Amino acid sequence: MSSAENLVFHVRPGGCLSGTLRVPGDKSISHRSIMLGSLAEGTTRISGFLEGEDSLATLRAFRALGVDISGPEDGAVTIQGVGMHGLKTPTGPLELGNSGTSMRLLVGLLAGQGLELTLIGDSSLSGRPMRRVTDPLQRMGARVETTELGTAPLRIHPVESLKAIDYPLPVASAQIKSCLLLAGLYAEGTTRITEPAPTRDHTERMLSGFGYPVERTGASVSLEGGGTLTACDIDIPADISSAAFFLVGASIARGSDILLQHVGINPTRDGVINILRLMGADIEILNRRDVGGEPVADLRVRSAGLRGIRIPVDQVPLAIDEFPALFVAAACAEGETVLTGAEELRVKESDRIQVMADGLTALGVRATPTPDGIVIQGGQIHGGRVGSHGDHRIAMAFAMAALRAEGEILIDDCSNVNTSFPGFVRLAAAAGLAIEGEKEN
Ligand code: S3P
Repeated sequence: MSSAENLVFHVRPGGCLSGTLRVPGDKSISHRSIMLGSLAEGTTRISGFLEGEDSLATLRAFRALGVDISGPEDGAVTIQGVGMHGLKTPTGPLELGNSGTSMRLLVGLLAGQGLELTLIGDSSLSGRPMRRVTDPLQRMGARVETTELGTAPLRIHPVESLKAIDYPLPVASAQIKSCLLLAGLYAEGTTRITEPAPTRDHTERMLSGFGYPVERTGASVSLEGGGTLTACDIDIPADISSAAFFLVGASIARGSDILLQHVGINPTRDGVINILRLMGADIEILNRRDVGGEPVADLRVRSAGLRGIRIPVDQVPLAIDEFPALFVAAACAEGETVLTGAEELRVKESDRIQVMADGLTALGVRATPTPDGIVIQGGQIHGGRVGSHGDHRIAMAFAMAALRAEGEILIDDCSNVNTSFPGFVRLAAAAGLAIEGEKEN
């Protein structure tokens, strides 16, 4: 779709959600499967890969770096690993679209490879902070440049070697942690990262799955540079961040009853379940199992009367991508919901505190942004038109709000839903949401 076209979601009010559904594969795990599979020795076979624009950006980047990757076809991808030192200089810059995970993890993975490279992204990604990764990489001896504003394009210059770092993370960020662990694979010595609060640990789990020794002690994770990765098979669970829209939709829409299949419920990602349950949601975790080192379950959700809460600060990093959906739950809850300790939301694909506050206000909900959170007073959602600011998760959250609205909700600028959730309109409509996507010029 050309960027001049505006994909608008039209969502009629009311209805409920029902049926059995499987949302697409986990975005974080999909990125990492391409990265580690490419650097491994041997053939890695992936199933359940997310065929969304973000993870496809990572896949295309590794093809440009000379890796033979076939697929994706129905979520199946096969990678002929080139080994730790087999990547080749691409013919042009690596184009990473809207994907912060691709850029922040790749700059670490590539910093010690002796290659000359440039990483670029779309206008949203080009406005996001990158010094959080380039500063510690420079301390490891990398030569990585940002713009004067500390943003992409990122230019990587070859260096002789990297040295390991012992780094306490200034913010709870899995992207910084993963960036430095991936750089640490190429560094002399032991790279140790200490987190101020637990963040998603898919990189650590997957490194172990590829046979790379990773040590966890308390809040620290460490690895020794100079090892190798051995190819393996990876079955990627459904993304809890995509399931979150249905967890909220089914909770708020009276008469709903859905079963979400094969959802990843890694304890560093399950904040959305914990927070919704504190609000009174009826979510059953069924058939818990372990799939390739990641916990997975089926989630049954039935509608329930929600109440406003103070969101526990320790749940914030565990639900960091789910707040747009949770704000819609708060708008439908009885009483006030207060979020604090979530300033990171201001530097996501959009400023998610401001953009959600503006949209909720446009729909008649009392939502007051604060520097590190928001206060939302539950009430009646009106119909209206809101902007998603090109942010996939804002678009999908407002689509679910229509289940409890009095009038139709129109949402602008929704094409980036494809970054994480291709087929959202079809799946949501099949479950009972009265949604259509229309292109406007
Ligand atoms: C991600 C980490 C989180 C999250 C992002 C994916 C990852 O970012 O918001 O969508 O895959 O490591 P931060 O590390 O910036 O919190």
